[in-house]
Amino acid sequence: MSARILDGAALGRAVQASISAQVAGLPRKPGLAVVLVGADPASQVYVRRKGQVADQLGYLHRQIDLAAGASRAEILDVVHGLSDDPEIDGILVQFPLPRRDDELAVLDALPPEKDVDGFTRASMGLLAQGRPQLVACTPKGVMRLLAHGEVELAGKHAVVIGRSNIVGRPMAMLLEQANATVTVCHSRTPDVARHCREADVVIAAVGRPEMVRGAWIKPGAAVIDVGMNRLPSADGKGRLVGDVAYDEVAAVAGAITPVPGGVGPMTIAMLMENTLQAARARLGVG
Ligand code: GUN
Repeated sequence: MSARILDGAALGRAVQASISAQVAGLPRKPGLAVVLVGADPASQVYVRRKGQVADQLGYLHRQIDLAAGASRAEILDVVHGLSDDPEIDGILVQFPLPRRDDELAVLDALPPEKDVDGFTRASMGLLAQGRPQLVACTPKGVMRLLAHGEVELAGKHAVVIGRSNIVGRPMAMLLEQANATVTVCHSRTPDVARHCREADVVIAAVGRPEMVRGAWIKPGAAVIDVGMNRLPSADGKGRLVGDVAYDEVAAVAGAITPVPGGVGPMTIAMLMENTLQAARARLGVG
């Protein structure tokens, strides 16, 4: 058997086309501000890509770069300025921050109506209660890919590997709300492979290159790879691999996302959708 490919690049383009059409009907451009603290190479790539897509869609787009040594007060100053800026509908502070203990302080300063990442306690709390507003982009994108690929969730067993606030935790909530039975595995789970073998859907979101092996997968299961890991390569450019050993798993699974071209483009498309949603809410147009 060879797995069906869940093509996030193609679906991401379709979402963007739909957004473009909607932007044309708004009284003003949706505004997205992206804040990058420091010069983490992976974060620089992600932030650049988000900016490119915002520009392509005709959004107002601002990028604010702060030095790695910026104090918490300086970061909060920027966030407060953007919170008060009437042209800005969405604020994204790229994570991880150089000092991880600044992250919750920054989230607590974000107005929930501009929280296009869906990371604040208000957004996460509403999702936990089953009345989501702005939902974290990666898990939202995974749900969209699963729906588009007609992967059944109701009554099925889903295993989420990883319990981050950005992906694993909201992912588990969304799957459970779609009536899957959800197991969350993490760094202290003794036998992750055993759980995976029983799963109809596996979501790998741990950041460990090619951790999920072919022998872990029930034949026909859907496997979603959220990982983006750069391994050393002979040409010095690095080789991008996910958390899933792609060739092995594709030989067993029923459906699989590639890396790149799977979850990544969906995350960006959902960020643009969330920004449009925030703009509409602030403009009072649905
Ligand atoms: N770091 C990794 N993924 C994300 C994301 O979706 N949003 C932000 N702000 N930081 C991230």
